[in-house]
Formats: sequence, C-alpha cells, structure tokens
Amino acid sequence: MNSLFKKKILLIICGGISAYKSLELIRLLKKQGAKVKTILTKSSKEFITPLSVASLSQEKVYDDLFNAENEAEMDHISLSRWADVIVVAPATANTISKLNAGSSNDLASTVILASDKDIFLTPAMNIRMWEHPSTKENLKKLKSYGYKVIGPEIGDMACGEFGEGKMTEPKEILKEIEIYFNQLNKNKKFKALVTAGPTNEYIDPIRFITNKSSGKQGYALAKSLAKKGFETTLISGPTNLEIDNNINLIKIETAEEMFKATQDNLPTDVAIFSAAVADFKIKEKKNEKIKKQEYINLELEVNTDILNYVSKHNSLRPKLVIGFAAETNNVQENAKKKLLEKNCDWIVANDVSNKSIGFDSDFNEVSIFYKDEKISDEKLVMKKKSEISDEIIDRVIKQLN
Ligand code: PMT
Repeated sequence: MNSLFKKKILLIICGGISAYKSLELIRLLKKQGAKVKTILTKSSKEFITPLSVASLSQEKVYDDLFNAENEAEMDHISLSRWADVIVVAPATANTISKLNAGSSNDLASTVILASDKDIFLTPAMNIRMWEHPSTKENLKKLKSYGYKVIGPEIGDMACGEFGEGKMTEPKEILKEIEIYFNQLNKNKKFKALVTAGPTNEYIDPIRFITNKSSGKQGYALAKSLAKKGFETTLISGPTNLEIDNNINLIKIETAEEMFKATQDNLPTDVAIFSAAVADFKIKEKKNEKIKKQEYINLELEVNTDILNYVSKHNSLRPKLVIGFAAETNNVQENAKKKLLEKNCDWIVANDVSNKSIGFDSDFNEVSIFYKDEKISDEKLVMKKKSEISDEIIDRVIKQLN
C-alpha cells in the first residue's frame, strides 16, 4: 500500500502565481488516496478559485478565521488536530515572514501557530525576494523550529526573470511527502517509553512531598515520538496536562509506582527519563492524618533510581537510554558525572537556575551529552519544549536507524 493512503493533509495555499500548481498537487495527493483539506489565504483567491479547490479536493474549503459557520463545523484548533501533516504551497515571502513573527491574523497563520504537527513549506517568489537577507533569516529561524523546506528551484519565472525562487513541481513535492510518511512507517516498528512529571511521596493519607515539575517536557517528548510513528508509552506523575489518545498514558503518583510501571513496560527501543522523581520517600508513612504538634521529625529513605536500575539491567535495557539532568550549578560537570554513573547513552542537561526555562516553563534550553570516547556535547538553544523535543527525537531516529 502506498504511504499516502488515508493520510490527512492540510494544504495551505498562499497568494502567488504558482498557486495554480497547488491544484495539481491536490490532484496527485488524492490519486494516492490521501484526504486533503485546504485553507486559502485572502490573496490566494486572486489566483485560484475556492470552487476549483473544492472540486479537486472534494472537501469544503476554509478561508476565514472569523467565519461562524466554519468555526462551528471545524474550528481552527480541530483543523490542525485533524491533519497528519501541514503543507504550505506556495509559501510566499509574506507568509514566511508572518510565520517567523508568530503572527496569527488569519486562519492560515493561526492554524500553523496552534499546531504541533510537522509543517512543510514550499517557498515560491521572485529571485530578489528569495535572496533578500530578511527572507533568508526568516527561513533559517523557521528551520530551527523544525519546519521542513522543499525547494525552491532555479528556472524561468512568471515575472520574466531567471533564477532561484520557482516553486518545486507538484510531483517532486509529492515525493517528499511520500518519503516523510515512509519514514514514519519505518518508525512504527520502534517502541518508546517516557517518564514525566513529579512524584508524590506521602507523609500521611493527605500530605506529601513533591517538586515543581509540570510534566511539560516529558509530554512534549511523548508527543514528538508519537508524531514520528513510535508506539509510545508515557508514565506520568500527577500533572494537569492532556495527551493525544495515540499515546499509552499510565498515571502514577509515587516513585515506587513509577518504577513498577517502567519495569512492566520495558524493554523498548528507546527510553527517555525526563521525570523529576523524588530521591527520597518517607520511611514510615502514617496511615492516619498526623495531628498538629510542636515539631515533627520525618525520616526519609532513598527511592530506587529508576534510570540507574534500567540502564544497568541486561534484559530490560532499551537500545537507547536517555536521562535528564536538572542542574543549578556546574551543569557540564554534573551532567557528565550522571551520564557515567547512571550508565545512560545520552544525558540531556537543563540549567534550572534559569527561571525562564526548565521546571514548569513552556521553554527549555538543553545540552545533550553523548557517551562517546570524549563525551561530546551539543547545545539546543532556548526554544519551546515541543521544539526541543522534536530536535531530540530527530536525533533518536538517526541513532536507531
Ligand atoms: O516537568 P517540567 O516542568 O516540564 O520540567 C522538566 C524537567 C526540568 C523536570 C526536566 O527537563 C528534567 O530535567 N528532568 C529531570 C529532573 C531530575 O530530577 O533530574 P535528576 O538530576 O534528579 O535525575 C537524573 C535522572 O535520573 C533523570 O533522568 C531522572 O528522571 C532519573 N531519576 C532520578 C531519580 C530516581 N529515583 N529515578 C530516576 O529515574
């Protein structure tokens, strides 16, 4: 079966002369059995008509963010959730600039901003616009966010000039999308496990010791893995987060429960330990609520180190074991120490002394330490946790392949 069969493609058509090629792209995608929904920007309707797009896609065409009928039928969030992948063709200089700025003043830009799906941009513009440093800068930034760029090509342009800026031919775009889904299918053979969030260590039935972890980093990792086709299990401490139902979510509270759930769900091909597991638990948890008193001594004992246990366990150990290190000082030194002591293949270190990243933030900045001869490291500069996760998972896929 071809890799596009029943795949859901959200095609965003922007206003450029090459918009006519998008009609052919719809036809080719449909021929392969894909479902195609489309969004037309206001200016694209100067070049093609909603009627021709609707006829080819056999679907309703979306064009206006503030259209009550559209929003009632399928709002902009559902539209991005519906898609397996988003393709922007043609992607004009204006749209590329808007996406870089995080603008959301029309349906197309709002859907993209609200989406956690992979996005293909197929730029098309005049050579001078293409070569302008601002376009180059915008695309560089978008690529660093994980956008995939197809083309443009060199050739004769509609404006009479010759050079780079022509939209890639629909057949070639189709090939790139097929390669993308083929890779996803290959990843389907891989299993992944992620731990996320804090743990609660009970003192008595209603009081516990916990920490500031929100689970955002771990949930983002699980989403990136599932998006790339992995069969993903997420073992999560208490959080307020939701997760797509293509991820096997196991909710736990204590470190002991996390340990048990991890053992029950291994081995996998990759395991990522991003949870902030409590190092200690109460030695003797009281079965009744402790009454108010002058002072109280809590005796603690060490929890099992789940990462350490798994990475040293012959039959449970995944091919690739990735730990996290939340550090407030000597980040590099401590991360390298943990890498070796806990026998993991990679450690992802975040400097949690910086309040704008790490615990409970939507952003992170990390260094990945690899267990090679010289323990090389690589920095991923501050980005949304979803983008950091996509970059980590791209590296996981390379490693597993
Ligand atoms: O949840 P968020 O708000 O999004 O924040 C994300 C995060 C800061 C929690 C995350 O990025 C992170 O750094 N997680 C690890 C936090 C941590 O407690 O690190 P650690 O240095 O104590 O532990 C090192 C590694 O051993 C971690 O992979 C940890 O999951 C693992 N560990 C630790 C103790 C234990 N008993 N079992 C473990 O598996």
